[in-house]
Amino acid sequence: MQQVHLGIIGGGTVGGGVFEALQRNGALLASRLGAAVTVQRIAVRDLKKSRATKIPKALLTADWREVVFDPQVELVAELIGGTTVAREAILAALKLGKPVITANKALLSAHGEELFAAAKKYGTNLYYEASVCGGIPIIKALREGFVGNRINALYGIVNGTCNYILTRMKLEGADFATVLADAQRLGYAETPPDLDIDGHDAAHKTGILASLAHGFWIKPKKIHVEGIRQVSALDIKFAGELGYTIKLLGTVKKLDAGCRVQVSVYPTLVPNNHVLASVNGVFNAVFVRGDVVGDSLFYGRGAGKDATASAVLSDIGDAVLDLKSGAKNRLPAFTPHECSGAVAPIDEVVSKYFVRLNVVDKPGVLARIATIFGQSDIGISSVIQPEGHEGASVPLIFMLHDATNGAAKQALAKIAKLPAVKGKPVMFRVESFE
Ligand code: NAP
Ligand code: HSE
Repeated sequence: MQQVHLGIIGGGTVGGGVFEALQRNGALLASRLGAAVTVQRIAVRDLKKSRATKIPKALLTADWREVVFDPQVELVAELIGGTTVAREAILAALKLGKPVITANKALLSAHGEELFAAAKKYGTNLYYEASVCGGIPIIKALREGFVGNRINALYGIVNGTCNYILTRMKLEGADFATVLADAQRLGYAETPPDLDIDGHDAAHKTGILASLAHGFWIKPKKIHVEGIRQVSALDIKFAGELGYTIKLLGTVKKLDAGCRVQVSVYPTLVPNNHVLASVNGVFNAVFVRGDVVGDSLFYGRGAGKDATASAVLSDIGDAVLDLKSGAKNRLPAFTPHECSGAVAPIDEVVSKYFVRLNVVDKPGVLARIATIFGQSDIGISSVIQPEGHEGASVPLIFMLHDATNGAAKQALAKIAKLPAVKGKPVMFRVESFE
């Protein structure tokens, strides 16, 4: 049987998971591919470190170049993360005509176009299934399964750490810091975790999905991002009373018949009767609306050793089949299509809103706030004010009808200046999935 020699850069959560999975399922993979994958070399940073996954010492090196430039290595997996060494190593491998697999969404987000161009130039390929939603084969679905569809909308719970935190905050009333520490211990969170909780990891993934769906590469600075730090137990509670669950949602929506799209990441109120509201814990889900297929849902583990290793194995499978057949560009890393495209500025995006204010409970306050919304042509669909004591501070919750982000922001800025309004108003979008 043909042998394919794999070099892995990174022996941490994902690299260790891939090594383990190859030990466990290598024979099965070989029988399916008609070629056996042999791990030739694994680069790590610290040779002395004790590892959750036992890797034979003879395979280890502390120099990634010994992986990439090893003449036996035909296929390279970059699993170290970051955007400097990883970029250098991938470019070096591609330059040698070696196909590369990466799980590195931060790198793709920042330098995708450069890496795809290098793969094309040197007649090889770059595979990146593990970069979005761990074990869910969403990249394959968009590139292959839905090749005949226009993607009118895509909504993703794409960050396991945030979903894990929001779920435990909702179900247990647990506090943010404790749950974040658990997510780090379980190997879900990025280092540093700010990448997760401030929404940037989700933005990297949403940008990759949006680019594949719409055929033009979307740069991270074009994506409007808000993380989950500002989601409080109070917001979760009131959203629940109104029939919603708060999720960090990546949203990609075609806004008109042209190529204008919304690409954003923000905490979103999801109706409890929508399937995405029940996606709990570290699980990810992507809801895709294609113009031919209609609605479909992808669900699975979006982070962690085994789920991510499964996606890397899928790329190993594709790369091995391409190597075997010599069809290096059967499916190029990225192909622009149809639209030259533009991401709409967030202020032009229309949405419904949940607004939480902290106000002094006295006559006329509600009327003054309602007047400002009215003057901005924003309709109120419901109001909650828990019974309080006159003169004391109470939460005041509004659900607002459709308005542009710009109009809602301006109205809130005016409301925030009212003497009876204490602290910063909180505003989240509400998604109706229509
Ligand atoms: P990790 O646990 O921190 O592992 C990183 C590995 O890379 C470690 O083995 C480290 O060596 C090695 N390394 C770092 N810098 C190196 C260098 N300059 N030269 C050689 N080796 C180096 O990270 P991870 O969680 O596996 O993540 C790896 C990649 O997968 C990232 O791009 C991440 O975004 C992506 N990803 C992760 C997950 C997940 O659930 N963890 C899911 C999807 C995608 P030492 O072991 O000696 O420190
Ligand atoms: N930190 C990421 C998450 C890992 O929590 O989803 C998977 O990309």
